Parts: sequence; C-alpha cells; structure tokens
Amino acid sequence: MNILDNGIESYLNDVIPDRDSVLTAMEEYATQNNFPIVGPLVGRLLYVLAYATKAKRVLELGSGFGYSAYWFAKAVGNDGIVLCTDKNPENEKKAKAYFKRGKISDRMQFHTGDALSIFDIAEGDFDIIFNDVDKELYPKVFKKAIPRLKKGGLLISDNALWKGKVLDKNPDAATAGVLTYTRLAYSSRELFNTIIPLRDGVIVSVKL
Ligand SMILES: C[S@@+](CC[C@H](N)C(=O)[O-])C[C@H]1O[C@@H](n2cnc3c(N)ncnc32)[C@H](O)[C@@H]1O
Repeated sequence: MNILDNGIESYLNDVIPDRDSVLTAMEEYATQNNFPIVGPLVGRLLYVLAYATKAKRVLELGSGFGYSAYWFAKAVGNDGIVLCTDKNPENEKKAKAYFKRGKISDRMQFHTGDALSIFDIAEGDFDIIFNDVDKELYPKVFKKAIPRLKKGGLLISDNALWKGKVLDKNPDAATAGVLTYTRLAYSSRELFNTIIPLRDGVIVSVKL
C-alpha cells in the first residue's frame, strides 16, 4: 500500500530542489540496485530535525551505504559527528567512498556489525538516534536507545507505517516489531511522539 496519494507524492517530489551530485549518485545507485533508502523527502526531514535541534552527535542504526547519514552530516556541520552502523561490510566501503566524494569524511564514523552492539561500544549520549534496521528488532532498539538519548534529543525511526501492514489483522514478525515499538513509544512517560505519514511513515520521539 502506498501511504501517500500518488499525485501528492509526485507533487512533493517535484517541488523539492535537485540534490548535490553525490546524493544524486546515491539515489541512482539505490534505484538501480533496488536498495531501500529513505529518499529525498525523508532525507530533507532528517536534515530539518537535525539542524533545528542543533544536533552534533547522531547515531544511525542501519546506515546502508550512507544515504540517510549524508543528510545528517550536512546538518551537523563540520564540528558534528555521525556514527553509522551496518551489518554488511560492503555497505561501509560504498558509504566511505560517497563520504569522501562529498568531503564529509571528517565527521563520519562507521561500525560494521550488529547495530545493537554499538550501544556497548560507543561512549556518551546522542542528540539524535535514527533507527532503520530490520523491523523485528525495533522493540530492542527502543529499549537500548532511550537511555542513550540526551534530554531533548530525538529518536527517529523509519517505516512507522510499514507499507500499510500496520493495519494487518495477523501481522508478521516485522510488522509486529513496528507495532510494538510504536506502542512502547506512545506509552512511555519519557517521550512525546508523532508519526509523520511521509513516504513509509516516520516516527519522531522527543525525550522529555
Ligand atoms: C533500509 S536499509 C538502510 C537505509 C539507510 N538508512 C538510508 O536510508 O540510506 C537497512 C539497512 O540496515 C542494515 N541492518 C538491518 N538490520 C541490521 C542489524 N541488526 N545490524 C546492522 N545493520 C542492520 C541492512 O544491512 C541495511 O543496509
């Protein structure tokens, strides 16, 4: 199920300006290889959220080849850091090549392995934690992420509407992961949440 009306989605895509040459190349790679990136509409949302909150320390869980991280990198500026994670070593190689082309390597770190293990390795708390790992893991991510978020920090998760499967009467494991995460977020006294129905849905939670 498309979350947005097709005409509205086309309008939103037509109204935004062209991306820089590196983001454009990343979008082309994603299209050619059927790789699920957040795309420019959500990319711009990530930029706005990071820039508006003056985020300087961003942790990404499930970075793929670095497309969403690239938007964060632009927003945090050259005194910020974006810590990327992905389980596939090929993604780290590709991401680093794109970061070099975009002259943002100075603010990027990449950990290859299970994204959840980063919570045992990385020191300090984060202004933004962005979650885009396998959907079954969302509840685990939620529990690990909240204690590592600064007060006023944002926990952002992609695919909050999961192609409309959140409406399924018999949800599969991935959908159940998204549903449980959403329930955890809305029942937490530590968070204030909103779901933005852009692309596949983005849930944004601020730590109170
Ligand atoms: C949807 S893609 C990420 C796209 C990226 N956020 C973007 O928009 O540019 C999900 C990525 O998460 C990675 N992933 C899924 N589960 C993971 C886990 N448990 N640990 C590390 N990486 C994981 C996959 O290898 C894949 O590259």
